[in-house]
Amino acid sequence: MTVSIDLSGRTAIVTGGASGIGRETALQLARAGARVCVADIHQHGAESVSAEIRAIGAESFATEVDIRDAAAAERAVTSTADRFGSVDILVNSAAAWTVKPFDELTTEDYDRDIGVSLIGTMTMSRAAYDIMRAQHRGVVVNLISDSGRVGERYLVAYGAAKAGVVGFTKGFALEAARYGIRVNAVSPGTTKTPGATPVIDHWGGEDRIVKSYPLRRLGEPIDQANAILFLCSDMSDWVTGQVLSVNGGFTMVD
Ligand SMILES: NC(=O)c1ccc[n+]([C@@H]2O[C@H](COP(=O)([O-])OP(=O)(O)OC[C@H]3O[C@@H](n4cnc5c(N)ncnc54)[C@H](O)[C@@H]3O)[C@@H](O)[C@H]2O)c1
Repeated sequence: MTVSIDLSGRTAIVTGGASGIGRETALQLARAGARVCVADIHQHGAESVSAEIRAIGAESFATEVDIRDAAAAERAVTSTADRFGSVDILVNSAAAWTVKPFDELTTEDYDRDIGVSLIGTMTMSRAAYDIMRAQHRGVVVNLISDSGRVGERYLVAYGAAKAGVVGFTKGFALEAARYGIRVNAVSPGTTKTPGATPVIDHWGGEDRIVKSYPLRRLGEPIDQANAILFLCSDMSDWVTGQVLSVNGGFTMVD
């Protein structure tokens, strides 16, 4: 007997789906049988990931969305429901971060990091909530960060945003549970994505950072995509309001 995760018949929206963890998650959900809307501010990147998904035989389309824009978020959700008949899964992977010491951060930096990473996550979730409530089922997975849990140097506005996403995840999970909707978060350790490259460089490169990781390697996008897949599937049917660390043991004290 084998155990497998089957998402056939389910529809997913993945924000930030054009790159890194979002891209790998969109692909992994599709490999498990889901129909996937790849949503990103970069239309071209989203189209290209959507084409990769169709090439493996799954249904997909791309949509351009700035997740800070409530009307655009609504359009992304509505177009997915119109096309695929439901919105069962929302993965909020899109985020923005400014890598600078606190005394160099500007209010524009605060606005961008908090606007995309926290407000954008809430805006997309709000747009999906009505449809999920009407369906009486749904799963939301938010990407957070150790910056928002234990603090990380030069990422304080982003860390503030991600700490906010933890609070949002738990409060939203409590409100949504009565409608059969589960809301969880994944907290990645440093994972090799296009977006993380400047941060890895800023902290002194992979060889230096990896020493802080008990499992002695950095994360790959598939490490995160597999954890997200679990939280999107019925295998985690009794899990809500939780944060799953996928970080090679980084936050333990040695
Ligand atoms: N990679 C890591 O080491 C790491 C660590 C901790 C947490 N995370 C979290 O994982 C998630 C994915 O990170 P990643 O490393 O894959 O990043 P990435 O930069 O590779 O991808 C982020 C994607 O988000 C999109 N995006 C940015 N602003 C947007 C907006 N306003 N509207 C819509 N899309 C927008 C970008 O175009 C990009 O495609 C983020 O939430 C990030 O905070 C990543």
